[in-house]
Amino acid sequence: MEPPPVFSAPTSIGCMVMKEKRLGYPNPGLGVGLRTVHYSHILSQRPSVDWFEIISENYIDSQGRPRYVLDQIAEHYPIVMHGVSLSIGSIDPLNFDYLQKLKSLASSVQALWVSDHLCWTGVAGRNTHDLLPLPYNDESLKHVVDRIRIVQDFLERPLVLENPSSYVTFTDSTMDEAEFVARMAEEADCGLLLDVNNVYVSSVNHDFDPVEYLNAIPHKRVVQYHLAGHTDMGTHRIDTHDDHVIDPVWELYRLAQHASGGAATLLEWDANIPAFEVVHAEVLKAKQYLGREHPVVDSFGIQASASVQPEIQKISASFPHPVHFVTAEVE
Ligand SMILES: [Fe+2]
Repeated sequence: MEPPPVFSAPTSIGCMVMKEKRLGYPNPGLGVGLRTVHYSHILSQRPSVDWFEIISENYIDSQGRPRYVLDQIAEHYPIVMHGVSLSIGSIDPLNFDYLQKLKSLASSVQALWVSDHLCWTGVAGRNTHDLLPLPYNDESLKHVVDRIRIVQDFLERPLVLENPSSYVTFTDSTMDEAEFVARMAEEADCGLLLDVNNVYVSSVNHDFDPVEYLNAIPHKRVVQYHLAGHTDMGTHRIDTHDDHVIDPVWELYRLAQHASGGAATLLEWDANIPAFEVVHAEVLKAKQYLGREHPVVDSFGIQASASVQPEIQKISASFPHPVHFVTAEVE
């Protein structure tokens, strides 16, 4: 595969500018998910946001106002494409018409990178419009890795995949999600979008240690972080993206950023969406969790993780781990 295209990084994103490129991708700083309700504000006020992430499906078939707005925004801000339809885990054939549309849009708006989720969204030609979890075993790993490689060859760039939030586990799983994600990234040679809120939500729902999860991740492959709010249902958490980021998620984010040495950060807010200034202010809180203005960029992965091990152990001990949450067992 050819090396990924390197687009111009923004030149004025303050203290967040970092030179390090992950899989050839730059770190554009602190971004916000582009949502329709904020179009007018962004176009008229041109806020000082480092970058925007778009939901790819909202634009790949659009020749109307959404695409018109996106083209204007892309003239002034770096754009990252985040998809929800790749269905990398499905046993349905890959949709090359969809991939071609992704490729064309990425070229048109000079997307910094293209991401999607470690999930499946349908089978037998039916789309559930849900991001469904996979069983984690050697068979599913090979299936996913093979498909990632095909997608990357087609897109001619490394794919970036996000860890899901989940509410069920599978009796066919033989490894935990963190191990699966780590092996997937290494064997497929792809990037990772580490959604720290998803790690936390799933850790509560399935009663695992979120810090151990972070320790298992190959941080040198993390191109981007997601932050979001979620809903506490008492017995479990739901990944609703409808509120502020809670403190334990911020602490996980701090650990992840220290371990990686710094990667792009994006705030998702998809329900009960407040004014743009509120959303922007939420992602700017990330600055206080970065530890230093210019994180070390020459040490990654295991070495960096080891350097923060005492801090990880201290914070791990403070995390709540509900004992009784019954996950569904899907045959
Ligand atoms: Fe996410």
